[in-house]
Amino acid sequence: MVDIRSSSRQAAALLLRELVETVGPLARARLGALEGEAFLARLEQVHLDVVEPLDVLYGTRTDTAELVRGLVDVALDAAAVRPWPLRVLDRRREVDPAWFQRAGMVGYACYADRFGGTLAGVRERLDYLTELGVTYLHLMPLLATRTGPNDGGYAVVDYDAVDPRLGTMGDLEALGADLRDRGIALCVDLVLNHTAREHRWARLAAAGDPEHRDFYLVFPDRALPDAYERTLPEVFPDTAPGSFTRVPELGGWVWTTFHDYQWDLDYTNPAVFTAMLRTMLDLANRVRDVLRLDAVPFLWKRMGTDCQNQPEAHLLVQAYRGLTRLAAPGVLFKAEAIVAPDMLVQYLGAHDRYRPECDLAYHNQLMVLLWSSLATRDARLAARALSRLRPAPATTGWVTYLRCHDDIGWAVADSDAAAVGWHGSDHRRFLADFYAGRYPGSFARGAVFQENEATGDARTSGMAAALCGIAAGNPAGDAARDPGVTAAGGPRATAAADPRATAAADPGATAAGDPGATGAADPGGTAAADPAGTVAGDAAGIDRLETLYSVVFSYGGIPVLWMGDELGLGNDERWAEDPLHADDNRWLHRPPMDWAAAARRTDPGTVAGQVFGRLRALAEARKGQLALRSGGETTVLVPDDPHVLAYRRRHQRSAPLLALANFSDDWQSVDLGLAAAAGIREPVHVHSTRRRLDLGEGRIHLPAWGFAWITTR
Ligand code: GLC
Ligand code: GLC
Repeated sequence: MVDIRSSSRQAAALLLRELVETVGPLARARLGALEGEAFLARLEQVHLDVVEPLDVLYGTRTDTAELVRGLVDVALDAAAVRPWPLRVLDRRREVDPAWFQRAGMVGYACYADRFGGTLAGVRERLDYLTELGVTYLHLMPLLATRTGPNDGGYAVVDYDAVDPRLGTMGDLEALGADLRDRGIALCVDLVLNHTAREHRWARLAAAGDPEHRDFYLVFPDRALPDAYERTLPEVFPDTAPGSFTRVPELGGWVWTTFHDYQWDLDYTNPAVFTAMLRTMLDLANRVRDVLRLDAVPFLWKRMGTDCQNQPEAHLLVQAYRGLTRLAAPGVLFKAEAIVAPDMLVQYLGAHDRYRPECDLAYHNQLMVLLWSSLATRDARLAARALSRLRPAPATTGWVTYLRCHDDIGWAVADSDAAAVGWHGSDHRRFLADFYAGRYPGSFARGAVFQENEATGDARTSGMAAALCGIAAGNPAGDAARDPGVTAAGGPRATAAADPRATAAADPGATAAGDPGATGAADPGGTAAADPAGTVAGDAAGIDRLETLYSVVFSYGGIPVLWMGDELGLGNDERWAEDPLHADDNRWLHRPPMDWAAAARRTDPGTVAGQVFGRLRALAEARKGQLALRSGGETTVLVPDDPHVLAYRRRHQRSAPLLALANFSDDWQSVDLGLAAAAGIREPVHVHSTRRRLDLGEGRIHLPAWGFAWITTR
């Protein structure tokens, strides 16, 4: 027996030798000679990345070597039943691990029921996705969930079954096969921080089974919960205050970070780690491509902290990643870690020392900064905050996005705000007010989500189109004025005294370029010229949405569109009619798909047609640009115009690509020297709002809310 509690590399090496000796013959027998050999090679490759984290996590509670042996057995069992087509795919991906980094990757996220009714219904709609250029589909939670409130499916009762309202495992497999034939990768959620209180583990715990009671964090009285709550932020202060729920059957309080029906698992218990590994590998044997690890920052709790982003949460994911590699090497992990800028890139493994963790993570910071730039007409905060982020490891990628099914939390660091002369909490407040349409002159029509009176924190709900001020062409556009919405948002005096008021209300103040110089007779951008006229009132909003998405499509990563954005769909004005949703205004931006609007997508005289055409064009233009692959470099530049965000993209031997986005409602321009500094001597148009380069007087001109992608000859 090898004791690696000493945690030395030598002990780990001994353990590896022992594992190879014992598992080797089994692996060859169960997987065949070739596959068995590959399994052993992977074991050698990942073993330190598994053993070290597990030893830190569980070394004092259990014998690490014993634990590792058991987990490798679990991985071997999963590998042995891995369906043949997935093994073939594993082989491909081990040869071509950068498959998901291609510039051709374009993502789409939706609820299966809202998009197609059922999984079978989604299959019927795949032509639509292909037309849009989609190569990556995130279907929101589709496993069996509880009846009654279920947080949009994030309260799972059975990880082995598809939600019967959506179909069966057979339907999921059939959909998977169709997607594979179309070259669309599939991403599915794994909710691993908590289970529904109706999950078998929770029911056993409530029935008094001590083994399963230890799966959850149960406290006999309020002493520890009170102590934790002194530093624990509330995720849903309005509707699910506190982080603990009294459960009489358990004889105490159970940890519930989210809702009272979502019980957090206790990852200090190695049995929980093992049970979740089984769940994960079963799912990896069914879903070909990507597992989205829900709410990962919350996996480990520590007294006196906010119980997020603890080092152990990373160790857990690292160990899972190694073990999943062993059994299902073609499957990727995507981190859902919507956290402060300084905490973000670590989910891609970028710690002081790199260790593989997730392959993909949401670029929450980029999202927040895009909206911030739009509201202030000022790109300096974005430039400052983005340029100080640690780069993503070259083998990983971001998910870049403009919004998702959740609210927007205003993750602006105080230090970044201060660096551009703003006050962090005032600015965050301003953003929440601006996007709720409470700020004088705001074009946005969102709503406030979970305003926390105690901390002053407020988040934002709303469709991207509504936040950009697109209203026409969709009857729901006025939802922000709907009494239901206002009630949920909570009326509040606007912060007219906000120091940011002047800067935001005075976009022209620092305008650098002279629009007159380039025949700027078309200040309204392209859509205004539309002959049908139906989009004229929305022209600026459409330009804003396109320009925001131009950054999402070029900043680096897989751009993911949230359902409805491609048609400029507005808020769901009827969101509160469903009693299960009425207390959660995130449903404002989770509308049912509007297939009538989709039918207008080829009509440029409509909002749907304008937006669909422009987003499709972004996907098309991106496809051919090596510089836009994930894994390349993104360098934020400092242009001589504060309204313009500028960055250079480059991938190994590719030519550089300069991306510019103008956040003001006037023409702006940047010195051509910026292009030269980015390595672009002879600017060539790649893609832009106006479909051509506007050069003149040594400057690159951008229309209001316009963008340009430029490369070199
Ligand atoms: C994730 C989901 C969110 C859910 C939470 C709890 O953050 O995106 O919708 O409320 O996890 O599962
Ligand atoms: C997740 C996200 C958080 C969001 C919450 C509810 O916890 O990390 O940003 O506010 O879900 O949507």
